[in-house]
Amino acid sequence: MILDGKGVAERRNEKLKEKIDSYIEKGYRKPTFAVVMAGDNPASKSYVQNKLKASALVGIEAKLYKLEESISEQEVLNLVDELNNDDMLDGYIVQLPLPKNVDTDKVLNRMDVKKDVDGFHVINQGLLFQGRNAMHAATPQGIINLLETYRIDVTGLNAVVVGRSNIVGMPISKLLLDMNATVTTTHSRTKNLSAITKQADLLVVAIGKPKFITKDMVKEGAIVIDVGINRVDGKLYGDVDFEEVLKIAKYITPVPKGVGPMTINALLENVFKRYEENIHSK
Ligand SMILES: NC(=O)c1ccc[n+]([C@@H]2O[C@H](COP(=O)([O-])OP(=O)(O)OC[C@H]3O[C@@H](n4cnc5c(N)ncnc54)[C@H](OP(=O)(O)O)[C@@H]3O)[C@@H](O)[C@H]2O)c1
Repeated sequence: MILDGKGVAERRNEKLKEKIDSYIEKGYRKPTFAVVMAGDNPASKSYVQNKLKASALVGIEAKLYKLEESISEQEVLNLVDELNNDDMLDGYIVQLPLPKNVDTDKVLNRMDVKKDVDGFHVINQGLLFQGRNAMHAATPQGIINLLETYRIDVTGLNAVVVGRSNIVGMPISKLLLDMNATVTTTHSRTKNLSAITKQADLLVVAIGKPKFITKDMVKEGAIVIDVGINRVDGKLYGDVDFEEVLKIAKYITPVPKGVGPMTINALLENVFKRYEENIHSK
C-alpha cells in the first residue's frame, strides 16, 4: 500500500488553515514566517518556493530573504539577529546548504531557539535527545505524523534507519526509539548493510542516492519510508527502488508525494505552534 503523504499533508494543512482562520476572525494577527536563502542552489529554490506557496495556502504570511552566494558570514549573522529581534515574526528557517564560506553551525546556533521552526538549533536537538519538549525537525516529525495517520504502531518493531544526518537520520532514530521501536542507525561505514536492512520491519532511508535500496535488501511485508530526493535528468527519485520494493512492502512512501509534503506540513505546524504561544503570551 502506498502511503499518501501528499493527501495526508493536504488534509492537515486544511485543518491548520481552519484554525488560523478562526484566530483571524477573532481579530488576531496572521502567523508570520520567513525563509533565509543564500545562493542559487536549484533544489533549494524549489523547496523554498514550495514552503512559501504552502504557507500562503494556509494563511501564514511568509517572507523570503534572498541573499547572494557571495554574502559574508557576518552579513548572514546580522540578518539572523534582525529576525531574532523582530517581535512580529513567529518563526523562520535558514535554507541549507549555505554558501561554503559561511559556517552553518554558527548561523543555526545564533538563531533564537524559539523561532527555530526547523528544529536544527543545538538546543532544540539537545532537548529532543533528552526527550524533553522540543521543536522537532520537520522531516522526522512529518514521518511520525504519517505513521500515526495510518495508525502504524511501531512499538517493538525492528526499525532500521539508513543515514545519520542531524536533520533526518539522527532525529528520526530518536523519535522512533521514543515510540518504543528497537532502532538500528546505519551509515556509509556500516558493514553488510543489506543483511541489516533485510531485518527491518520499518525501514527509513535518508542517504541521497537514487534507488539505492533494492528489493533484495528489504524484508517482505516491511514498512518503507523513503526520505531521499534525487534529481536525475530532471526527474525526482527516492533512495528506494520504488517500483520493485512496492511489490513486497506492506507500506511504502512514494517520491515525490510522500515525505516531502509531510515535511512542509510539519514545518507549518511548527510555525503555528509558536504563533499560538506568541499571541497568548501578549
Ligand atoms: N523529503 C524531505 O523533505 C527531505 C528532507 C531532508 C532531506 N531529504 C533528502 O534525504 C536525503 C538525505 O538527506 P540528508 O540531509 O540526511 O543527507 P546527508 O546529510 O548527506 O547524510 C547522508 C547520510 O547517508 C549516509 N550514507 C551515504 N551513503 C551511504 C551508503 N552507501 N550506505 C549507507 N549510508 C550512506 C551518510 O553516512 P555517513 O554519515 O557515514 O557519511 C549520511 O549519514 C537527500 O536525498 C535529501 O535530499 C529530503
